[in-house]
Amino acid sequence: MSFGSRFYSILFGFEKHNLTKFKLEGSHMATPCFTCHKKDEKWNFANLGNRCIDCHENIHKNFMDEKYIPEGDCKTCHSVSVWNEISFDHKKTDFELIGKHKTVSCRKCHFKPESEKKLQQFKWENQFCTNCHNDIHFDQFTQNGKTDCERCHTNDNWKPEKFDHSTARFKLDGKHEGLACVKCHKPTDSLLRNYIVYKFKDISCKSCH
Ligand code: HEC
Ligand code: HEC
Ligand code: HEC
Ligand code: HEC
Ligand code: HEC
Ligand code: HEC
Ligand code: HEC
Ligand code: HEC
Repeated sequence: MSFGSRFYSILFGFEKHNLTKFKLEGSHMATPCFTCHKKDEKWNFANLGNRCIDCHENIHKNFMDEKYIPEGDCKTCHSVSVWNEISFDHKKTDFELIGKHKTVSCRKCHFKPESEKKLQQFKWENQFCTNCHNDIHFDQFTQNGKTDCERCHTNDNWKPEKFDHSTARFKLDGKHEGLACVKCHKPTDSLLRNYIVYKFKDISCKSCH
């Protein structure tokens, strides 16, 4: 005959439990005693591991550097309430979250929803913006295999806030000053590769006049 978990709950409630090496908090308070303590049809109170990893599978294994999960402790990011509430200081990584990125959910950058298995990615070969953003300029600004989006853009919006035309091959002065960009920079006529042309083969006066 075995005792029901309610019997143990009366003898050994939360307060007593909180004196052990493992406090019952958050969702663990709502977890029936036997979920953790019953193994092989026998009550087991001793030799239960008390690290998160002893009971929970590390779903991030091979996706994330182990240094973020010291000694199997998931608390660098998770609480014991729900898995989807995250608190983490991203400055600990090589990529600081600035501008709009501060308000983007971890999931949007690190979990890919394409496949049924939510594939994770926490590491990239490089830290190019084009890992996540399409180069709508179709490599016009690519130098040595890399397009430095931040030469013209910030992380706040996609306006060319940092671009200064006087750094271009052609300065806008005299009658050219204040002209609408589209007067000189027109979209391509290809429907497949539709983008605005910023690089010209010929920039002599007679190419436009
Ligand atoms: C989420 C998992 C979990 C739940 C739920 C849980 N426990 Fe525990 N319990 C543990 C862990 C972990 C330990 C600590 C083992 C250790 O000392 O390292 C422990 C320790 C104990 C001990 C042994 C204390 C000692 O000093 O040897 C008793 C008795 C116990 N729990 C009873 C209960 C009862 C009764 C409930 C239900 C009210 C309960 N536990 C719910 C995980 C749990
Ligand atoms: C002794 C075993 C044990 C340990 C140690 C343990 N848990 Fe749990 N935990 C459980 C069990 C059992 C449940 C309830 C069943 C389930 O959802 O997996 C649970 C539930 C949870 C849930 C809720 C899951 C859900 O879907 O609602 C979270 C979050 C959680 N644990 C986080 C942690 C974290 C973080 C740690 C380390 C600080 C930890 N747990 C340590 C056994 C444990
Ligand atoms: C460096 C941060 C970090 C650490 C450490 C970490 N996780 Fe996570 N985990 C995440 C992020 C981010 C998500 C996605 C949360 C969301 O839904 O927005 C996540 C989600 C999860 C989920 C839910 C998966 C899903 O598809 O919704 C589980 C389960 C989980 N983590 C378990 C663990 C366990 C177990 C550990 C410790 C062994 C751990 N995590 C350590 C960042 C972390
Ligand atoms: C705007 C996109 C973005 C968001 C939002 C974001 N991250 Fe990251 N994260 C990155 C990039 C980029 C890296 C750098 C990857 C590299 O160095 O290869 C990174 C690196 C990491 C790493 C280091 C991985 C490793 O193994 O070195 C962890 C851990 C991490 N992020 C967790 C989180 C968590 C937790 C959140 C939510 C609080 C979050 N990130 C939100 C883009 C993002
Ligand atoms: C790991 C993925 C990732 C990387 C790397 C990344 N971003 Fe983002 N970025 C996002 C996500 C996700 C959003 C949220 C909006 C979205 O879904 O496009 C975002 C949003 C933005 C926005 C705001 C767009 C808007 O319309 O509000 C700007 C601007 C931006 N990123 C610029 C950059 C720049 C510049 C870089 C390179 C320094 C960069 N991002 C690198 C994932 C990333
Ligand atoms: C030399 C300057 C320059 C660089 C470098 C640059 N852009 Fe732009 N970008 C512009 C200008 C100018 C515009 C505004 C006119 C337009 O829509 O083409 C713009 C607009 C955009 C827009 C908004 C388009 C729309 O329809 O509103 C996005 C998105 C964008 N850029 C993404 C990128 C990404 C991603 C990179 C890096 C791969 C990048 N840009 C690099 C100059 C630049
Ligand atoms: C009178 C014609 C003219 C006008 C008006 C004009 N541009 Fe240009 N722009 C040029 C020429 C010519 C170049 C040089 C093209 C080259 O290097 O192949 C250029 C180059 C650029 C480049 C590429 C710079 C680089 O470093 O690669 C960008 C981006 C650009 N213009 C954006 C703009 C924007 C934004 C406006 C409106 C505010 C504008 N231009 C107005 C003629 C013009
Ligand atoms: C990339 C195209 C482009 C190039 C290269 C270019 N221009 Fe222009 N230029 C324009 C446009 C567009 C206007 C505005 C004319 C209009 O609104 O129809 C303009 C206007 C002018 C005007 C004023 C004409 C008027 O009727 O008000 C003069 C003068 C002028 N350009 C001289 C030059 C000279 C000199 C050069 C060579 C140093 C040159 N432009 C190179 C595109 C160009």
